[in-house]
Formats: sequence, structure tokens, C-alpha cells
Amino acid sequence: MYSSRASATCSKQWARLLSDIPATRTNAPVLLAIESSCDETAAAVISEDGQILSNVVSSQQELHAAWGGVVPEIASRAHVSRILPCVKSALVQADVATADLAAVAVTSEPGLVGSLLVGLTAAKTLAMSLRIPLVTVNHIDAHIYACGIGRTESIFPCVGFVVSGGHTNLYSCDSATEFRMIGGTTDDAAGEAFDKVARILGLPYPGGPSVSAAAESGDRKSIPMPRPMLKKPGLDFSFSGLKTAVLYAARGLPGESQLKTTPRERVPDLAASFQEAVVDVLVRKAERALKQTRLTRLCVGGGVAANRRLRTRLQQMCDLKGAELLIAAPEYCTDNAAMAAIAWEYLKQGKTSNLDVDVLPGLIRRPAPHTKNSRRFQPEN
Ligand code: KG4
Ligand code: ZN
Repeated sequence: MYSSRASATCSKQWARLLSDIPATRTNAPVLLAIESSCDETAAAVISEDGQILSNVVSSQQELHAAWGGVVPEIASRAHVSRILPCVKSALVQADVATADLAAVAVTSEPGLVGSLLVGLTAAKTLAMSLRIPLVTVNHIDAHIYACGIGRTESIFPCVGFVVSGGHTNLYSCDSATEFRMIGGTTDDAAGEAFDKVARILGLPYPGGPSVSAAAESGDRKSIPMPRPMLKKPGLDFSFSGLKTAVLYAARGLPGESQLKTTPRERVPDLAASFQEAVVDVLVRKAERALKQTRLTRLCVGGGVAANRRLRTRLQQMCDLKGAELLIAAPEYCTDNAAMAAIAWEYLKQGKTSNLDVDVLPGLIRRPAPHTKNSRRFQPEN
């Protein structure tokens, strides 16, 4: 991947990083976590009792905004230049020594292949040079675990719900290491729908915050929108048809009379009606998952979980059903490395990785019928 000159420069940079951080033990053991699965470069330091001692996130939003979505090659290159400063800031802010590091944790799946590789290579380099264990983390599991940050009691057992840019997945979670997938999207994820609808409405990337801001002044009942998969039994989702419904409502049906852009004055009502349809589906499926699993706690994470309307509606549903709702704090909804605190649970069970471990970039999707490739998918009866 790199030329020999580039790799010599890299090793010099690593040597400089390590020489800037004190070596002798000053604190109780801590975990250094690295996250680079998509378009945020992040590093955090987490104590054994789950306290976040530092949480550094370098967002690449400004680099991708011009393209209306994440450009994988731009993301990988930005991770390469940002990963060392992020790791260094996290260590300095937490005021720890290299000898304090019990392990280095890193997201290895799922995500963009080039982006994941940058984080994993950085983590392997640190693990090897400091002779500490490497712990690989599943990004989706970590999004659910983020609901427990700042809590002393365990969040398990629970229904885990990840609503992010790439995933809309439901899990029955017995413990931090036992997640069973019980539902997921068959096409677009909820966050992806927000991002695509933002483009249709002429709103900036990332679409979630801009659509929800536009929705504030709109009427959520003004434009009829479908509620995909609600009438079907089960816990699966589909959002690609909803995005098309917004396109037709905004600009008319395909053909010569279809508008090239969405009239500005219609944007708030379209945004509010779309958001309400997504929220309806997410809330009703979460309710169904609680009923089906007979679990009484719902843990929701991922970028879309920062959505205010979704948070309000989930709370109303849980209050009505007598369930406990834990939603990750807004700063821990979108991508960050603090949620890799889940790695402490793996470490305590001796679940470390060899240095030849590879990334697993593929999205975690509900498998096609009759396949065995389930990566944990087991429908509830
Ligand atoms: O979890 P995340 O940071 O990255 C992935 O793992 O995908 O989620 C990013 C997604 C984007 O699609 C973004 O538009 C969406 O989360 N998002 C939101 C909000 N904030 C971020 N969606 C709806 N409302 C929000 N307030
Ligand atoms: Zn994420």
C-alpha cells in the first residue's frame, strides 16, 4: 500500500509519537481505542471501570460535503494524515503513559475497507511496538454498548437497536459478547435514507441533521408518505422506496415535467413528513422487538439515534409499554472511539486478536433466504 519512503516517514512519525508520551506507569491500566470505519477519525482512552478519560473525534464532513456523501478514497487518505494526531491528543488529554496501556482496541468491522485498514494498521503497530494485546471491535456492537457510557449498572440483557448511516439492525443482546441479530434492513439504512433525501431536497451533507433542522418548521402530516414493511410481520426494514416517494412528492413523476430541483418552499413539509415516516417505522419495529423477545430494556445507538423526534417518540413508546429506554448521549451516537469501551469486556474474557487479523468490511445485512451466511442472524419465531 505504501512506498518504502512513505513507510520510513511513517515509522519516524510513530517513533516521535511514542517518544512524546511518558513511558513510565502513572495510572491504573487504561485502554486506547481507535475508530476509523467511515468518515470520522477517532481515538479515546477508557479506564477499566468505563470512564472516558479522553474522546477525540476528527470529522471529515467538510471533505465529503461537496460530493453529497462519503467518498471512500478521500476518507482513507484523510485517516492516514489524521490518525497519529488523534491518537496523540487522546493520550495527552487523558494524561497517561504508554506503560498504562493495557491494550489497544480498534474497529475492524464493518465499514469502508481502506478506512478500516488505516485504523487497524495503526493499532497493530502500537500493539507490536508496546507489546500489548490487540482487541478488535465490531462497530455495530460498539454503537449499542455506547448506551452504557457513564452508567455503573450493566445495560444487558436488552434489545439492541443500531440506526446509523449503514445499518438499521435489531439484536437480542444477552451480554456484551452475546448479540443475536433479529432484524435488519433489506436495502438502504435509515441514515442513508436521510442522506439521500437531503440531496433530493437540496440540503447539505450529512443529511440527518439538515433534514431534521428543516423538519422543525414543517408539518409532519402534510404529505402522505409510505411506512415500508410495517404491515409485514417481522423485524426487517426497507427505506429505499421511501426515498423514491420523497423524490416523486418533491419533483413529480419521472418524465419531461419532472422538476430538476425541489421548490424551496416545499422543503420543510417534505422533510417533516419524511422524518415522521422513518420515525414511525423505527418506533413500531422497536416496540415489536421488545414484545417478541419479552425483554424490557431497549438500547439505541448510531448516528440517527441523535434525532430529537426519534428520541421523543421512542421515550413515549417505552413509557407506554413499561420498558426502560437507554439512548446513547448525542456525542456518542455518531462515530467515536469511546464506544469501543466494549473491548474491556473482550479483554476480561481473554478475547484478544492476533497481529495477522484482517478487516471485515462488508455491511451486516439480513441474509438472503436459504443462505447459511448468517453472521449471527436468527429470526425470532
Ligand atoms: O453512526 P454514524 O455516525 O456512522 C455510521 O456508522 O454510519 O451515523 C451517521 C448517520 C448519517 O447517515 C447521518 O445523516 C445520520 O447518522 N444522522 C442523523 C442525525 N445525525 C446524524 N440522522 C437523523 N437525525 C440526526 N439528528
Ligand atoms: Zn457508526
